[in-house]
Amino acid sequence: MFDLKPLSHLDLGILGGTARTAYGEIQNVNSNLIDWKAVDGQPGNYIKVLALDPARHRVDFLFKQDPHAEFARHNHVCTAVALTLEGIWGYREGEELMFPGTFSYEPSGSVHTPYASGTGMVVYASFQGTGPVMLETLDDDGNITGELTLDFFAQYYDAPALQPA
Ligand SMILES: [Fe+2]
Repeated sequence: MFDLKPLSHLDLGILGGTARTAYGEIQNVNSNLIDWKAVDGQPGNYIKVLALDPARHRVDFLFKQDPHAEFARHNHVCTAVALTLEGIWGYREGEELMFPGTFSYEPSGSVHTPYASGTGMVVYASFQGTGPVMLETLDDDGNITGELTLDFFAQYYDAPALQPA
């Protein structure tokens, strides 16, 4: 996703060839070396989980939608932030479009249905909750149809090997 060619003559160190490192609680991720994983039950939606911190009810991830893909309508049971990296996307409930450079702050209680335009999209996002539940998926009448917990994100996360100090 990121063009590393200008850096190819440099020694990028351990992360140049290693997807993840951990030094105690500090983690670094070379997201270029992590494969996109299809999000279960959400066609055209993909995720790279960057960091998962169950003790702090937090998950950081890259999220990608194919052109014209949609993600289930949901309520946030967490604070969410997103920085759009690629493409143009929006929420079915509003008129605004997000594009590269757009930063979105969404407090707990936000309800919406994200969809990608014909360009598809990639965002960096972070969810910070107060418990294990991050999202509630909703039907058209607002009834809760499912919960996305940190365990849901954990299935897409490969924990880093601890590096020697
Ligand atoms: Fe959302």
